[in-house]
Amino acid sequence: MIERSFVMLKPDAVLRRLMGDIINRFEARGLKIVGVKMLNISRELAEEHYAEHEQKPFFNDLVEYITSGSTLAMVVEGDDCINLIRKMVGSTNPKESDIGTIRGDYALETGRNIIHASDSPKSAKREISLFFDDSEICEYKMPDEHLVYENI
Ligand code: RTP
Ligand code: MG
Repeated sequence: MIERSFVMLKPDAVLRRLMGDIINRFEARGLKIVGVKMLNISRELAEEHYAEHEQKPFFNDLVEYITSGSTLAMVVEGDDCINLIRKMVGSTNPKESDIGTIRGDYALETGRNIIHASDSPKSAKREISLFFDDSEICEYKMPDEHLVYENI
């Protein structure tokens, strides 16, 4: 089923000039970028985005980290892509991330794990609407869709 996921490159990814490499991984895989923007996230938006972690001991550090600089927010589309992107991202703790995953290749610490991706269809829907207006999502057909997907 075609799904949309919310992906955010955290401030360390932007500062370390990893945006292009990371976006390229999604594009090369056959996924479609249908929304993208850079933004400095307010404390309010960061707290809302990570509301599920409000009671966790790392919540304040997490909000500080996410609001410490510019981020790149994206909506990525593709077949069953929510789970797939989580696999491409790797474990929360980069030391446990497999080599070949984004965190496994570019990060070392949980508190500097460079990327966020939605963990379920419900989270994806919530997060996309938190960061993007409908008018900011671009629908288009990839000319090589039949090369990426068998039955299209
Ligand atoms: P994310 O939401 O950013 O995609 O990361 P995730 O699903 O892999 O991990 P999650 O449990 O949702 O945690 C959100 C972010 O909080 C920071 N964190 N720090 N110090 C800690 O124990 C700890 N645990 C989590 C990480 O930046 C993590 O990505
Ligand atoms: Mg999460």
